[in-house]
Amino acid sequence: MSENPATSAPGPDDVDAPGGDAAPDASAHTPAEHAAPGPVPVPPAAAPSGPSSPVRPTAADEERTGTASGEESEPDGAGEPSRAASGSHRAQSRAEAGFHRPEPMFAPGTGPAADPAGAHHERRIRSFQPRRSRVSPAQAAAIRRRWPEWGLDIDGLSRLDLNALFDGRPVVLEIGFGMGEATAQMAAADPGTGILACDVHTPGQGNLLSLAERAGLTNVRVANGDAIILLREMLAPGSLAGLRVFFPDPWPKKRHHKRRLIQPEFIALASTRLAPGALVHCATDWEPYAEQMLEVLSAEPTLENLHPSYAPRPDFRPFTKFEGQGLDKGHVVHDLLFRRRAA
Ligand SMILES: C[S@@+](CC[C@H](N)C(=O)[O-])C[C@H]1O[C@@H](n2cnc3c(N)ncnc32)[C@H](O)[C@@H]1O
Repeated sequence: MSENPATSAPGPDDVDAPGGDAAPDASAHTPAEHAAPGPVPVPPAAAPSGPSSPVRPTAADEERTGTASGEESEPDGAGEPSRAASGSHRAQSRAEAGFHRPEPMFAPGTGPAADPAGAHHERRIRSFQPRRSRVSPAQAAAIRRRWPEWGLDIDGLSRLDLNALFDGRPVVLEIGFGMGEATAQMAAADPGTGILACDVHTPGQGNLLSLAERAGLTNVRVANGDAIILLREMLAPGSLAGLRVFFPDPWPKKRHHKRRLIQPEFIALASTRLAPGALVHCATDWEPYAEQMLEVLSAEPTLENLHPSYAPRPDFRPFTKFEGQGLDKGHVVHDLLFRRRAA
């Protein structure tokens, strides 16, 4: 667990080709099973292109939308703020390598950008699978209605004013909300708390916006992009009242463990963004990942476990789709509840 998507700078052997090695292991409870509709391998690009000259999508591409591009092989910019010049070099080498950036489905400001952080904040190892999933007409309509007010792109370029965004409510960050059912339920049960819900999955973003709208919720905001950039570049130290990570992609193959979100450097970063007393709540149905979570969270000196080991399943966490799939396979679900210590 020495490598981390946020901060490591792996060598060439660590690079996964888009749609190739990065494809999840079909024998386990995979990221593909966890997404609805699931992440799909990104096909090789038809022709090289850079951000300023996106490849014209094929007819099949046009039926889908992409929220992450698959540029896993570019130099790592982790840990550093944006540098336009080196970003353009990266974009160029990415183009030369034959990767293409999906065209955004929505005009700027009207929906999630296909690649909000662009080349400036690209990281080499991602905890999510680049994918192109179909956005239903209802999801797209919800995005068009609600995105300008409730959506934001994780571009890594400015600090968020959480007070303004959530009318002064304490704010909990949920990373990887999937289709957002649990997010909406928890937001409805606790209207005094703001939920900053982060994912890269456009259909899920539309679904959550639709659920929030239908339930009359005013305490949910949807952040599009990589949570690591959100934490590192856009959230102030001590600004969060909690962190939720429910059923993150387990990346079961050993060579993909580096893609797991819950790693020491990630938790160290996240903890700096938590206020004293903030709750960190993780859950997984993948036993080896549960063990990793327990080890990583227990080793973070700024956090304390609220239980001797795993937590009993809290009744305030709704069942999620992925939890149900795991239980159907006989998996055991583990919750972990830790608290941010006072500084
Ligand atoms: C397996 S799904 C779980 C969804 C949901 N929590 C549930 O239990 O139904 C994991 C989600 O995390 C998202 N994800 C993974 N890494 C992420 C990151 N670094 N930033 C934002 N979202 C991420 C993926 O896109 C995916 O939707």
